[in-house]
Amino acid sequence: MSAQRTVIITGASQGIGAGLVTAYLQKGWNVIGTSRRISETASFDRSDRLKLMDGDVADPDTAERVARTAIDRFGSIDALINNAGVFVTKPFLEYTIDDFRRISATNVEGFIHFTKHAIKQMLRQESGGSIVTITSSLTDHPIAGVTASVPMITKGGLNAITRSLALEFAGNNIRVNAVSPGVVDTPLHARNPKDFLKSLSPMGTITAIQEIVNGVIYLTESANITGEVLHVDNGAHLGKW
Ligand SMILES: NC(=O)c1ccc[n+]([C@@H]2O[C@H](COP(=O)([O-])OP(=O)(O)OC[C@H]3O[C@@H](n4cnc5c(N)ncnc54)[C@H](OP(=O)(O)O)[C@@H]3O)[C@@H](O)[C@H]2O)c1
Repeated sequence: MSAQRTVIITGASQGIGAGLVTAYLQKGWNVIGTSRRISETASFDRSDRLKLMDGDVADPDTAERVARTAIDRFGSIDALINNAGVFVTKPFLEYTIDDFRRISATNVEGFIHFTKHAIKQMLRQESGGSIVTITSSLTDHPIAGVTASVPMITKGGLNAITRSLALEFAGNNIRVNAVSPGVVDTPLHARNPKDFLKSLSPMGTITAIQEIVNGVIYLTESANITGEVLHVDNGAHLGKW
């Protein structure tokens, strides 16, 4: 990786993504943070090493613009965090095909657009790189009453492609990993009672954003780890408790 490293973070305006922006800046990285309305809604300290860009990850043009800006402004793409994602729950019979298309556009098509641009640039740089994607432990262990069947098609697919790409690009020293959260204390859960959220893992706790950030940074910096899905979920992937 180049001396002054650059990371692209999607879904960076709030929650886990905003925590990642702050952490990577503190570690000395150049950061490009993107979301649909990040320029209006986010409030980060100003920095020459931070560039915020608006755009929908489902639009291929967003990844193209973000990658070009990373290279023009900072000279490289050394890491990508695919964090932007949407989550909805409803009984399976109530999901429409439009729900599926909308969820897939953000969670899967967004992944494909950004990951393609990042890998293309990492191959040009010939110095390896790291891709980390945020998935979900509900793919390993569904919870009765949390009916997320259709979103889990997308998150399970991201776990699968993580392993495929890890193998495909291992020889180029491009590592591809995922962090799999249970319940994280972000605005996503603003309307859910804390007692209910605590009941969704065997450890009976809610994960702080910083714990997910720590997992992402660990995978970004671990030279020998690829194809790994790291569960940071208070044991929620383990089974019935
Ligand atoms: N919180 C949890 O308990 C939990 C558990 C498991 C997995 N996760 C995963 O962790 C990731 C982050 O979750 P979070 O809780 O931090 O979410 P959040 O608070 O809802 O934030 C979502 C972020 O994604 C952006 N975003 C949403 N749709 C987008 C799109 N189409 N294009 C570009 N940006 C988009 C949002 O900004 P804009 O509105 O400006 O676009 C925002 O920055 C997601 O992939 C989520 O599925 C979260």
